[in-house]
Amino acid sequence: MKNNNQTAAMYQIMMNLLEVENLDEALSAALDSITGSLRSEMGAIWLLNEASNKLQCMFSQGEADLSDIVVENGVGAEGHATFTGESVTKPQIEGTAGTDGCIFDEAGYKTETLLCVPLNTAKKYIGCVIVANKTEGGHYTAEELDLMEKMAALAAMTIEEKGLYIPAEKEKKVMISLRDITKEYQSGDSVLKVLRGINLDIYENEFVVVLGESGCGKSTMMNIIGGMDFPTSGTLTIEGKDFSHPTEKDLTQYRRDYLGFIFQSYNLMPNLTARENIQFIAEISKDPLPVDEAVRLVGLEQRAGNYPSQMSGGQQQRVSIARALVKNPKMILADEPTAALDFQTGQEVLRVIERIVKEKGTTVIMITHNVEIAKMADRVVRLRSGKISSIKTNISPLSADEISW
Ligand SMILES: Nc1ncnc2c1ncn2[C@@H]1O[C@H](COP(=O)(O)OP(=O)(O)OP(=O)(O)O)[C@@H](O)[C@H]1O
Ligand SMILES: [Mg+2]
Repeated sequence: MKNNNQTAAMYQIMMNLLEVENLDEALSAALDSITGSLRSEMGAIWLLNEASNKLQCMFSQGEADLSDIVVENGVGAEGHATFTGESVTKPQIEGTAGTDGCIFDEAGYKTETLLCVPLNTAKKYIGCVIVANKTEGGHYTAEELDLMEKMAALAAMTIEEKGLYIPAEKEKKVMISLRDITKEYQSGDSVLKVLRGINLDIYENEFVVVLGESGCGKSTMMNIIGGMDFPTSGTLTIEGKDFSHPTEKDLTQYRRDYLGFIFQSYNLMPNLTARENIQFIAEISKDPLPVDEAVRLVGLEQRAGNYPSQMSGGQQQRVSIARALVKNPKMILADEPTAALDFQTGQEVLRVIERIVKEKGTTVIMITHNVEIAKMADRVVRLRSGKISSIKTNISPLSADEISW
């Protein structure tokens, strides 16, 4: 019976890995199969960066944001498994110097049980895969360790075959931190738990895409980040400053000077031209970009004199982006900016967002239902029922021109 289950699990991971086209997909397919087969609450894949000889978390599943944690030789279960090429289990590492502990704990998650298995190719150790805690409780069995080692061997082969290119770690600076953020609404006698413990860091100059089913809490999370809504509990930190209970003055300043917003609807003033719509915001901003610069960034030089009614949906959305941009914000929050647009106009808007991240160094957080768009992101955060269900680092983000839907 056990053997049958193992064979089925191996067959599933082989099928999943056979279909993948690139390394990003290989990582997520492998982790999906492994956490699914072992019924694990948490899982992550770490790859060794040969230049720095450190491990980088490329893909994690579960509530913790591991993206900023870099692990060195011998540190934690991950550093032990990768550099020795041997599997690590929870009882084995307890009380052992250097390996006592797991990165999940560091990210604020209590690890009850874990398996950490190296990803070994014929030639070298390339990283490790780790799972922690079981949905039904209890510890991992020897059979499960055996299964995971076999799955990891298949995953390592696929990863190597897809080309193991890990970009050098960027010097990453945290802008915004969410820790154990919850949001509840009282509805009659019952409580609606919309966010149930969000842990996430947002870095300077990154493009983060947030995915998740309707109603899972995406807009609520973004509104909390944007100072338009407040958490029930938890801590929000902005550039090191606790913003969980901001003063009205701090809040106004933050929304006005630090942030730009883009929504599905454009909210343009119909009696003003494109340029005047942008100009208007520039005039009330502290340190605005030149209006011409904002117009150029969104590629509307030829249309700046048009009224909203004389422009396509994509052009109108680009005006609304220019309006967010002309404030010269450090971060742009975009809630489904392409949802109302067809493919072609949606792509126009994405080219603009791409340009803002590259040319201006602006951080962009964008909510979308479109998994194709997620391929452009530096990191993809998935929410499910008010919790983060996975965070993926895209190794080679695609450009707006390379995606289609
Ligand atoms: N002011 C409120 N009062 C009560 N419930 C609310 C309120 N705002 C949001 N909710 C509920 O919180 C949940 C999450 O809403 P949210 O808008 O964050 O979802 P979403 O992931 O953005 O969904 P969508 O993809 O449909 O935009 C929903 O069930 C919603 O009904
Ligand atoms: Mg929403």
